[in-house]
Amino acid sequence: MVSMKKIFVIGIGLVASGLFLSCAKSFKGIPEVTPKMAKDYGVDEATLARGRGVYMAHCAACHERVHPGEIDPEFWRGVTHHMAVKAKLTEVEEKQLLHYVMVAHAEVHGFDPEH
Ligand code: HEC
Repeated sequence: MVSMKKIFVIGIGLVASGLFLSCAKSFKGIPEVTPKMAKDYGVDEATLARGRGVYMAHCAACHERVHPGEIDPEFWRGVTHHMAVKAKLTEVEEKQLLHYVMVAHAEVHGFDPEH
């Protein structure tokens, strides 16, 4: 007879793999800044949070926000400057935004600074 514990473990496994698959297909939402992100990438958490704030406040006037994970870091570098001009960001806001999209990109793609 299958124990309740085993059913529970299988259930968790299914939910976890379901989440993983849905992440791999499409990114949803604009990732929140976590203390772990700041620590892993050596960028001050307040800077990242401000960068996300800039993204939320200034980057959906003309089109939907693109998930940071959907665009390569090199493309982000160029497009962030191009869009900062369009959105009339200050130089500081542009830097904060760039930090945020780079770190959020690395975070969703599982960048590991140890490797
Ligand atoms: C004034 C309108 C406007 C604002 C504000 C704006 N964008 Fe854009 N964005 C555009 C247009 C138009 C394009 C497509 C053509 C181009 O590159 O100019 C675009 C394209 C993009 C792309 C490329 C999408 C792709 O799939 O290739 C990204 C990424 C992007 N914007 C991010 C941002 C970010 C980040 C901000 C905030 C700093 C922002 N945009 C603010 C008008 C805007």
